[in-house]
Amino acid sequence: MRHPTGRDEVIERYSRIFPKAARVTYAPLVMTRAENARVWDIEGREYIDFLSDAAVQNVGHNNPRVVRAIKEQADRLIHFTFIYGFPIEPLLLAEKLADIAPMDDVKISLGMTGSDANDGAIKFARAYTGRRTILSYLRSYYGSTYGAMSVTGLDFEVRSKVGQLSDIHFIPYPNCYRCPFGKEPKSCKMECISYLKEKFEGEVHSKGVALLLAEPVQGDAGMVVPPEGYFKKLKRVLDEHGILLAVDEVQSGLGRTGKWFAIEHFGIEPDMITIAKPLGGGLPISAIIGRSEIMESLPPLGHTFTLSGNPVASRAALAVIEEIEERDLLKRAEKLGDYTKKHLEKMKEEHELIGDVRGLGLMLGIDLVKDRETNERAYEEARKIVWRAYELGLVLAFLQGNVLRIQPPLTIEEELLDEGLDRLEQAIGDVENGKVPDEVLSKVQGW
Ligand SMILES: Cc1ncc(COP(=O)(O)O)c(C=O)c1O
Repeated sequence: MRHPTGRDEVIERYSRIFPKAARVTYAPLVMTRAENARVWDIEGREYIDFLSDAAVQNVGHNNPRVVRAIKEQADRLIHFTFIYGFPIEPLLLAEKLADIAPMDDVKISLGMTGSDANDGAIKFARAYTGRRTILSYLRSYYGSTYGAMSVTGLDFEVRSKVGQLSDIHFIPYPNCYRCPFGKEPKSCKMECISYLKEKFEGEVHSKGVALLLAEPVQGDAGMVVPPEGYFKKLKRVLDEHGILLAVDEVQSGLGRTGKWFAIEHFGIEPDMITIAKPLGGGLPISAIIGRSEIMESLPPLGHTFTLSGNPVASRAALAVIEEIEERDLLKRAEKLGDYTKKHLEKMKEEHELIGDVRGLGLMLGIDLVKDRETNERAYEEARKIVWRAYELGLVLAFLQGNVLRIQPPLTIEEELLDEGLDRLEQAIGDVENGKVPDEVLSKVQGW
C-alpha cells in the first residue's frame, strides 16, 4: 500500500479503482483534515464548507463531543450485533429518538444509510396496509438501494438499465417558483392536491396505495419548500383513503431547518420518519421512527442488518443529539438561516443571475437563471460559480444543474459564515463579469 503524496495522484488513482457509479464530483477536493466549518486539503489549503459535507455535519466536522464519544466507545466495545445481543448504546439512542420524535407511541428501526431507511419505510408500509402501491414525487431523491432508487423521481439512467420495484407512481411536488401546473402563487388553487385526487379517479386505485413518501423540503430537487397548507391538505386526502405518510428527513432532519424535523413546520404528524446523514456525525447510521403498530408489521429479521445499531455509531448519534440540545442549535439554525436568507436576498438585488432564494433554516438554495422572465435554468453559470468558489476556498455544489446548495453546519462561526457569503458573492460576480473561462466547464461534473 503506497500512500499518495499529492492531489493529482489521488485523483488519478481514484479513477483507476472506483467505478463512476459511486461518485459525482464538483471540484478536486482531497480533504485530509476538518474542524467545524473548515476543511483542509492535502496541500494544506483551507476551505469553508458551505455543504456540511452533503448535509452530514450539522454539529460541525469533528465535533469534539462526537469525537470523545467515538473514542470512549471504541475503547470499550466496537460491535456486538444488535440482532443477537442487547448492546446498551442503540437502546439509549432509540429511546432518545422516540423522545424527540413529533409523534407518540413509536418504535425505532436502525440501519446504516438513508437509502436503507427508505427501503424499510416501503416494506413496513406494505406489510402494515397489505397494499402494494407507493406514491412518490417527481425530482425526489431517496437513495441508491433498489427500493430507494425505485421511488426516486429523478430521471436516472440507472433505472432504465437495471429495472425497478413495481407499483410506484410519481406525482408533481408543489414548487411555487417552477409550478408544474404553470400557476403563479396568485392564481394557485392547489392544483397539486387536485391532481392527486384525480389520479385516484383514474390511474391509481386508492385502496391499493400503501404509502406516500415525501421530503418535507425537497433537497436534491433544489431546496423546494411547499406552500403553507399543502401538507395539511395532503394529509386529509391520504387519511380519507387510508394511505400512510412517511417523511424522508435524511437531509432536512436533526435541526437543519430550525426544528428537529422539518415536517414540524407544517403542523401534521407523519406515520413514519426516516433519518440518516447527520445522525452519526459522519458515522454510518440511519433510523426509521414509526408508529408502533406499523413497526410491528414485519416478522423477525424482516428489516435489519448485521451492523444495525452499531455501538460506536449509536454513541456518536447520542452525542450529536446532545450537542444540538445543549447548544440550542435548533434556535441557532433558525437565526443563522434567517440571517443568511436575508443576505442572499440582498445579493439577488445586485445579481441578475439569481432568480430565487428559498429554504428553511440553514437548508437554502439559490436558483440561478439566465432570464428572470422565463426562469430558464443557468446550467453553465452554476458550474462556473462552483468552480470559482472552489478557487476562492469555498466548498459549494449545485442541484438540478442550476440550484446552489447552501447548507453550512449549524455551528458555523458567524464571522466564517460572513466570509463564506462574501466568497460566494465574489464567485457569482466573477462569473457574471466573464472572469471565469469556459475551460472550467469540463472540470465540473455535478448533477
Ligand atoms: C432526502 C434524501 N433521502 C435519502 C438520501 C440517501 O441517503 P444515503 O446516501 O445515506 O443512502 C439522500 C442522500 O442524498 C437524501 O438527500
